[in-house]
Amino acid sequence: MARVLTTVEAVRARFSALRQPLAFFDAPGGTQVPDSVVEAIADYLRDANANTGGAFPTSRATDALITKARATAADFLNATIDEVAFGANMTTLNFALTRAAAREWREGDEIVCTTLDHDGNISPWLELAHDRSFVVKFAGVDDECRLDLDHLRSLLTDRTRVVAFPWASNAVGTVTPVADVAALAHDAGALAWVDAVHYGPHGRIDVQAVDADVLLCSPYKFYGPHLGVAFGKAELLESWRPYKVRPASDFPVASRYETGTLAHELLAGFVAAVEYLDDVGWDFVVEHERELGQRLLDGLPDAWQLHGLRTMEGRVPTFAITNESMSPQEATARLGERGFAVWDGNYYAVEIMKRLGLDDGAVRVGIVHYNTADEVGRLSAALDEIARLEA
Ligand SMILES: Cc1ncc(COP(=O)(O)O)c(C=O)c1O
Repeated sequence: MARVLTTVEAVRARFSALRQPLAFFDAPGGTQVPDSVVEAIADYLRDANANTGGAFPTSRATDALITKARATAADFLNATIDEVAFGANMTTLNFALTRAAAREWREGDEIVCTTLDHDGNISPWLELAHDRSFVVKFAGVDDECRLDLDHLRSLLTDRTRVVAFPWASNAVGTVTPVADVAALAHDAGALAWVDAVHYGPHGRIDVQAVDADVLLCSPYKFYGPHLGVAFGKAELLESWRPYKVRPASDFPVASRYETGTLAHELLAGFVAAVEYLDDVGWDFVVEHERELGQRLLDGLPDAWQLHGLRTMEGRVPTFAITNESMSPQEATARLGERGFAVWDGNYYAVEIMKRLGLDDGAVRVGIVHYNTADEVGRLSAALDEIARLEA
């Protein structure tokens, strides 16, 4: 497909939000959206706002939109329409799917999570374990925050039902070898349950290539509205008994896991977000982000400690950094005053912060394809400045 957007200037021209005098390094908490997404949401509410299944134009348009959104999600993930469900966000979908998956499990069954997971892929399992006496284990990481596959392998037993793991860490940016972890899970007779929320804006998600059984992502992290999308293999979604109301449709199969009325306007925004990404193409995203990530690594002032991989190999451009002289919270306040949007805290990545001994968390710099070399350069200078003022 011909790519329309081939420069960062052309990309940024699509986002009115980026005209604000703020350098947006907060993408891991949610990206800005292009104007086409804003317009698609408004257009739906203006022209086609209705519930489903009615014999009148706005309802018919809504039915058509839902069909299109399902096809778009299926295409985006390389799945089928029977395999994609929408929900309020990843966490809500994950609480629902974990419960449906585990309905037939027995006391003592085991779940393996990882130190790299966001709590959205941990607490649903911990709560299930609490209710049903399952066992949750954690696979660790090495000193550079890479998933320790030997440790993970050592935790697998004939009681392991699921290996739950992230495609990429939302705190330290590590990318996991998804297909390898899925293969390990399958060899043990367990499901591969992938949290792709953080990876979403950084690269193509192909559920078939990695052989995920369940995979979750959140369009608000990849230029869309606040929404969650779940993939589950059709045979699994068919075999589980969903928590659903009786009159709701059973088709497509994945829709059995959607409760109540969907956020139709956000589905319109989701379709527009995927169309936007088609205009950009993953090659531009990957190349530009890699260049900016390397620039950040090269220009990181000595006063700042990086937690995680020191190269762009095996990671996305999400960086957790700390400074001995100020707390992450103080640092982000100073950066905020200087026009930089960055996060501090643990961003719900509780286990990795424990592992790194970072009780107050870290400053998180999240780069995406709409950031510029100038922004990264200015951020490095600001990090240097605030460190010097404090020293
Ligand atoms: C890696 C990861 N998983 C899960 C979540 C939770 O996503 P949601 O807000 O859609 O529930 C987040 C949100 O920050 C995340 O970064």
